[in-house]
Amino acid sequence: MKILITGASSGLGAEFARQYASLDNELVLLARREQNLLALQNELQKSCKNVEIVPVDVTDFPTLQAKIKKIQNIDMVILNAGISLGHKGDIPSIAQFQNLFDVNVLSAHAILEILLPQFRDKRSGTIVFISSLASLFSMPTSKVYSASKRAVNAYAEGVRYKYKPYGVKVITLLPGFIKSEMTDKNEFTMPFILQTQEGVKRMKQAIEKGKEFYAFPFRFYLIIRFVNLLPSLLREKIVHYRK
Ligand SMILES: NC(=O)c1ccc[n+]([C@@H]2O[C@H](COP(=O)([O-])OP(=O)(O)OC[C@H]3O[C@@H](n4cnc5c(N)ncnc54)[C@H](OP(=O)(O)O)[C@@H]3O)[C@@H](O)[C@H]2O)c1
Repeated sequence: MKILITGASSGLGAEFARQYASLDNELVLLARREQNLLALQNELQKSCKNVEIVPVDVTDFPTLQAKIKKIQNIDMVILNAGISLGHKGDIPSIAQFQNLFDVNVLSAHAILEILLPQFRDKRSGTIVFISSLASLFSMPTSKVYSASKRAVNAYAEGVRYKYKPYGVKVITLLPGFIKSEMTDKNEFTMPFILQTQEGVKRMKQAIEKGKEFYAFPFRFYLIIRFVNLLPSLLREKIVHYRK
């Protein structure tokens, strides 16, 4: 299988690369930090059929698309590149808002604009969207991030409906907190946080089982579902209690 992983230079993306490294798999690792990609390529190439790196900024859409067009025969894409604005800022600037949406949402479409026709024509292919439990509940400190991940869910859902009849599999994964460079910046206690290896192992299992939607850890997901059922006044109290 040939797998394209975006945001492969650290965190979940790098761990996906490690867990998919096998003599049956070819990996294409995409991110900005070329040194990290080279180190990972070096680490994995012996245990892999082939490891290619694509150093690119996913918000540079013309360059990104030109590079994606050059890659042949991708079977699965893991749309994992993502950023958050942290949890401290007050009102994000329009530039921050736009950049976050460019990375977390629009870059996925920039890639799929190239890959979807290929997947449709060969009547196969798997698209994995890395969303977040944050898409289900918008905290005052992470509203832009939550909005972007909710947009990812909606976009993924539509892509699934449209392309399932063409044999394309669309999987949306909603992790809670997992240890990574992103969460290392958080200064609050993160409930139910998972180690990187464990978090990615669960996502890989969900992909292998062909789940279309997987939100985890389950207890955290249930709590969020429950809170969402409460009247809004009560929900607000919980939000401010947790701040
Ligand atoms: N960790 C969690 O608890 C958690 C929970 C739910 C969802 N997620 C999602 O999981 C995904 C991976 O995050 P992570 O936790 O592994 O954080 P991370 O370690 O900070 O990884 C983010 C990855 O995205 C890449 N990236 C960011 N901006 C980019 C750009 N402009 N162009 C190309 N690549 C870019 C980074 O590579 P470069 O900097 O080298 O470009 C890096 O490889 C994100 O979509 C995140 O929202 C994480």
